[in-house]
Amino acid sequence: MFNVIKVKDYEEASDKAFEVMKDFIKPGKVLGLATGSTPIGLYQRMVKDHEENGTSYKEIKTFNLDEYVGLPISHPESYYAFMHRNLFDHIDIPEENTHVPSGLGEDLEAQAAAYDAMIAKDPVDIQLLGIGSDGHIAFNEPGTAFDSPTHVTDLAESTIKDNCRFFDNDISKVPTQAVTQGIGTIMKAKNILLIATGANKAQAVKDMINGPVDEACPASILQKHDNVTIIVDEAAASLL
Ligand code: GLP
Repeated sequence: MFNVIKVKDYEEASDKAFEVMKDFIKPGKVLGLATGSTPIGLYQRMVKDHEENGTSYKEIKTFNLDEYVGLPISHPESYYAFMHRNLFDHIDIPEENTHVPSGLGEDLEAQAAAYDAMIAKDPVDIQLLGIGSDGHIAFNEPGTAFDSPTHVTDLAESTIKDNCRFFDNDISKVPTQAVTQGIGTIMKAKNILLIATGANKAQAVKDMINGPVDEACPASILQKHDNVTIIVDEAAASLL
């Protein structure tokens, strides 16, 4: 069942997300983290809280959702670099407690299986999610099996176009593949916090909440999860 929280705009969505997340920023907790524009406001609030209130991440572990295939971690648009720039470099989390799937290596599928094995040992207490304009979660594009483990995937044309803005608006620079936690992996998280803002998410939000549970909308599987909080701003909620 969904707990849908409607807010005015991106800033309010980030405030609300921080309120939810705060309960999980405690020793021993495992956070599932996400990239994209959506969680940046939340990460800013986590950094501010760490700086002003001394909230510590020393005994917290994190697992990220996904990574582009073929981008070196030094590339500013790698999700590894994104996480360091927006969060890890500004809090006291030990590097060895953070995990971002690797999009580099000889055997990406074997690495993906090893990533799932690590998560199985340290189950995620709360998984943060954004949503793609096509209803994808992490990089699980429409048609992905609901029980999929972490795997290598091709990106949908619409996702490549959406993410073009991060690559000098040059479509030829956008990676075409990614390693992503599978929907099966994501569904094992004990709690899920999904944030959706902006009019370009309105259709995906509608399909996720009101549509059938169908692989055509990957996020619709969340209807089958017991503890999902969805924070939507007015624009993203406009078709509900
Ligand atoms: C990206 C990521 C997702 C993210 C989504 C939305 O491609 N792989 O994890 O939720 O697309 O991104 P944004 O928050 O920038 O709209």
